[in-house]
Amino acid sequence: MSPALFPQQIIARKRDGGALTPAEIQSFVRGATDGSWADYQLSALLMAIFLRGMTPEETAGLTSAMMHSGIVADLSGLRKPKADKHSTGGVGDKVSLHLAPMIAACGVAVPMISGRGLGHTGGTLDKLESIPGFRVNLSLAEYRAQLEKSGLALIGQTAELAPADKKLYALRDVTGTVESIPLICASILSKKLAEGIDVLVLDVKFGRGAFMPEKVKARELALALVAAATAMGKPTRAVMTAMEQPLGRTVGNALEVAESIDCLKGRGPVDTMEVTYAIGEQMLLLAGVAKTKAAARAQLEASIAQGTALEKFRAMVSGQGGDGRVVDKPGRLPQARLKVPLVAARAGFVQSVDAMGVALAALRLGAGRAKAADPVDHAVGVSELAKVGERIEAGAPFGVIHANDESALAEAQAMLAKAIVIGDTAGVAPKLIDEVIG
Ligand code: URA
Repeated sequence: MSPALFPQQIIARKRDGGALTPAEIQSFVRGATDGSWADYQLSALLMAIFLRGMTPEETAGLTSAMMHSGIVADLSGLRKPKADKHSTGGVGDKVSLHLAPMIAACGVAVPMISGRGLGHTGGTLDKLESIPGFRVNLSLAEYRAQLEKSGLALIGQTAELAPADKKLYALRDVTGTVESIPLICASILSKKLAEGIDVLVLDVKFGRGAFMPEKVKARELALALVAAATAMGKPTRAVMTAMEQPLGRTVGNALEVAESIDCLKGRGPVDTMEVTYAIGEQMLLLAGVAKTKAAARAQLEASIAQGTALEKFRAMVSGQGGDGRVVDKPGRLPQARLKVPLVAARAGFVQSVDAMGVALAALRLGAGRAKAADPVDHAVGVSELAKVGERIEAGAPFGVIHANDESALAEAQAMLAKAIVIGDTAGVAPKLIDEVIG
């Protein structure tokens, strides 16, 4: 029998730059799950990992141990390929809301467990909860039943899924250890791979509004995510996408749901659809229901043209307790009391729209949260946002602010006026789809 592993020995090994064995990693993850390691010991090892890094084998081992710290959903009874996507988070990124039903309409099940917004990025769950009655807290049995019935379910993380991540993420948040590639990798993948999926596509964002703004770092994260998931037997690809300006023309929960419904009706903004198709194509290719990118694209386009994706969305909303009538009447979504246009003082071209500046304005309006326990106002945000390169006439609107509070409105107006620059020459947006990895 191997000798007992003391937390202090494991911490010291990583502190000195050693690679941890699978047994040492399992001891750490068990310690986080059952409380047998003290918070200061967990935090010390997190910091040692942050400073010393991990080999690809250690990262895969940590991911696997964290994934198995709770239930791993068994969806083998579902006679369809099962694919999911994950975005590292952006501003105005509502792609999951309409892409999941598009993929389901193409015959691939989408078991999607999502998160809430924290800081400047929005969360899929908050967006869905703006639909009156929508329940994100399905039990695992309800989740399975919903997948059987309509081929897609979008729910929140349950206490049974990857509990080690919940503990470790809370500690990372307060110990300066969030920005570590192996820790981010294990955190994201342990939750995603516990869903019971066959294949995964990641949207790794870079640019001003991204969680990891520097492209070189974001690419490093994409490579590590693909390597760890592939090592665990899950075919995975990452699409690197630019996040300089917000995606689409809306930022804010109910406003983004309405824009996603527009996407399903064939009226989606060009940039949002470009990202949607790029990720959707990879999902259908990996799931094996399309042989070429062009064939995948044709299937996705048909799901919109024939209305099958919209019907999947309606089935998901009503199957999860929501008001399916929002599909035909988006006006049933929460509406803000004040709707005020942002008016251009001069004619010109949009030179830049700072995604981070817009996100902070939306946060000030109440669309997001600074702390995990904060409530969100589903109705507020910004709509009809101008895009980089567009011409604006003097006195014409380049966005509409939706607010429920006069002082927040005034601050958001000032923040947006700074975030959106209008000048004599048109700005050029960076290429949206940068690279597919894997
Ligand atoms: N998202 C996660 O779920 N975990 C991280 O560590 C970072 C982003």
